[in-house]
Amino acid sequence: DQIMKGGYEHYMQKEIHEQPEAITQSMRGRVKQQKSAEGNPYLQQRIKLGGLVETRDTIRRSRRIMFVACGTSYHAALAARQTVEEMVEVPVVLELASDLLDRCCPIFRDDTCVFVSQSGETADTLRALEYAKARGALCVGITNTVGSAISRATHCGIHQNAGYEIGVASTKAYTSQIICITMMALALAEDSISKRERRDAIIDELGALPDKMRSFMQVQDVAMKELAAQLKDSNSLLFFARGNNYATALEAALKCKEVALIHSEGILAGEMKHGPLALVDEHLPIVVVATRDSMYNKMESVIQQLLARSARLIILCTAGDATMQEYAKRSDCQLIEVPGTVEPLQPILNIVPLQLLAYHMTVLRGHNVDQPRNLAKSVTVT
Ligand code: AGP
Repeated sequence: DQIMKGGYEHYMQKEIHEQPEAITQSMRGRVKQQKSAEGNPYLQQRIKLGGLVETRDTIRRSRRIMFVACGTSYHAALAARQTVEEMVEVPVVLELASDLLDRCCPIFRDDTCVFVSQSGETADTLRALEYAKARGALCVGITNTVGSAISRATHCGIHQNAGYEIGVASTKAYTSQIICITMMALALAEDSISKRERRDAIIDELGALPDKMRSFMQVQDVAMKELAAQLKDSNSLLFFARGNNYATALEAALKCKEVALIHSEGILAGEMKHGPLALVDEHLPIVVVATRDSMYNKMESVIQQLLARSARLIILCTAGDATMQEYAKRSDCQLIEVPGTVEPLQPILNIVPLQLLAYHMTVLRGHNVDQPRNLAKSVTVT
């Protein structure tokens, strides 16, 4: 058991720390870092996804791209949705598999449905896949398990290649799924000259991402253990974010619920004034995601509004952000600093300290980390 855990106490801990390697594996042989000198410099193939070569044009001509998933896999699709919208310029919709089935959601022959599932065996996702297939949609799979039911039943797909994930709480599969969906978006936009600069910037940052993640893992591990000691007896925790980090808030809250067994909610900060603000007082801990991206100014205003109500804040921000450091000093709130990257990839770095926070709270509260009560790794019943 100890050998399997590679010296770590728990699989969840091991899998959090494995993420730089897991995302490297997801990109291996698929992301080309050097721009080649020959050929049309405007149209270089820098992303190679063998599984999508034959269906690429069909996907691009789709009426819409629909992502279907459950739990953490759904959050990964949410984190990368904006990148697909921006790169492919096709309407993107997200569906929780169970809800799609409950509603008998209309699906058409010219839809592309992308089924995201770590195990590839989740019953709701599999039923939704059968439902979409029967309606003639092109079905794409993104799974971490070769030979799984979803990988076999889809027309084409991407294997995550993140390595086995054993802890019930999904961690490395999540960051790897965001990578895979982002690579898919970039591959679909490869012929677009107008998107070239943006595409190249994202690809360059994909190459830098594993090292950026490694660079703060150990420091954050220690810092999150300390923060966990302060927060472990909380009755509730809120996570506020917007833009593609809304997924970060939802995913952090899910981790706190499922392993630390603490009530927790991820809240879209744009909705704050429509209800959640009433919960704010000086006791309830609130984590605000305010890294430097297009949402930064809006998140700063959220921070000001929360501080005006004496909220107990923990701000997740870009390393070295002087404005946020000033808030921390003046208002006695804590900072979680993460390296900056391009906006589509920032959720991949932002989730790491929050996974560590959930992990350490679980240990300190004495709960079962790898087998939380009432849960199974793969939910094979609907
Ligand atoms: C994540 O921590 C959960 N264990 C759960 O939400 C999971 O992501 C969900 O059941 C979907 O699983 P899948 O990715 O294997 O389909």
